[in-house]
Amino acid sequence: MKDLSAKMLDVPWSAIRKIFNMCIGVDDLVKFTLGEPDFLTAPHIVEAAHQAMLRGEMKYTSNRGVAELRQAISKMAKLKKKVDLDPETEIIVSNGGMQALMMSMNAVCNPGDEIIIGAPYFTNYLGQALMAGAVPKFVQLHEKNAFIFDMDDLKAAITDKTKAILINSPSNPLGSIIDKGTLQKIADLAKEHDLYVITDEVYQDYVYDPDVEFCSIASLEGMKERTIIVDSFSKAYAMTGWRVGYAAAPAHIIDLMVKQQEGMASCVNAPAQYAALAALEGSQDIYKEMIQTFKRRRDLLFEGINKIDKLSCVKPKGAFYLFVNITKTGLSSDEFAVRLLREAKVGVVPGSGFGEEGEGYVRMSYVVSEADVAKGLERIKAFVESL
Ligand SMILES: Cc1ncc(COP(=O)(O)O)c(C=O)c1O
Repeated sequence: MKDLSAKMLDVPWSAIRKIFNMCIGVDDLVKFTLGEPDFLTAPHIVEAAHQAMLRGEMKYTSNRGVAELRQAISKMAKLKKKVDLDPETEIIVSNGGMQALMMSMNAVCNPGDEIIIGAPYFTNYLGQALMAGAVPKFVQLHEKNAFIFDMDDLKAAITDKTKAILINSPSNPLGSIIDKGTLQKIADLAKEHDLYVITDEVYQDYVYDPDVEFCSIASLEGMKERTIIVDSFSKAYAMTGWRVGYAAAPAHIIDLMVKQQEGMASCVNAPAQYAALAALEGSQDIYKEMIQTFKRRRDLLFEGINKIDKLSCVKPKGAFYLFVNITKTGLSSDEFAVRLLREAKVGVVPGSGFGEEGEGYVRMSYVVSEADVAKGLERIKAFVESL
């Protein structure tokens, strides 16, 4: 038989799958591994999907997505991202942020183009860049720099092959948020070197402190024309399984995604699009409460981890992850995660799963109740003391 696609064969399997598989079937596990809110989608959103189906909204939609949904996204983006988007031409509804990321990379990259990505990074960026024929160029984000880009490192990574910078703020797995001053410097670099910016903003609503503000790089002067925003309903509205997200960018870039959508999935599931519309149009109060719940968990976990000898972490400003420094335990991140699971029934993800730059850390998602946070902390403390 002839060879299969070398490009696809080169795409690695997810490095964090091993620990997920090991967690399956473990009794009484405290699970800090998952990357999704533990809340159910709100009933009015579920009802909107139901009503859409009863109305017969079950046909293909436009490749770009349902017009009312794009209009609602445009309104929301103006309010929360301070970006003006034409719902007719500058937005495409996608199957989650994941498809928006993939289509963005396909839209801007030619084979061999380099995409700069901060590392440790969301695992799927690597496979997506490779599938787009691009070369991912990782720039380490250091703990001493609160896990955001050091501008000298970023500048040093730019070559004549660089096509885009990918930023993720708030970050998975780091919980960091890039401040406006740093975003301005990244924007200046992008303009100076004529680069695109792909900004993954799927955790935009998970910002905890009054003195920390989310800023979209697309809102900075001269940036809208070179920026692709990726966003999603998954985290903001506890809708991970519905698979609705979007990309927003200048019309000529969105056009290239519309072509991809035609050949990939045609459109996003129609009832799910109406559910997403209800999410945007309904009351936002329950989500504000949800964020307050996450904030309490973050504070508990952050304080608890820093009280354990040999463990430490910087305070995450957003998303729902803590990136815990375990170097003083003398274990590799993989050994730490596997032994913690086997010996203490606590699931965490080894930092090495987010690129080699994540070695020496583990990621903890605070998507468990406060009681489970407390139970998990006790077990982790006992485990570390036993080493
Ligand atoms: C940083 C980041 N970007 C994008 C996504 C994609 O999420 P979805 O496709 O569910 O919108 C995730 C999911 O975990 C994520 O953590």
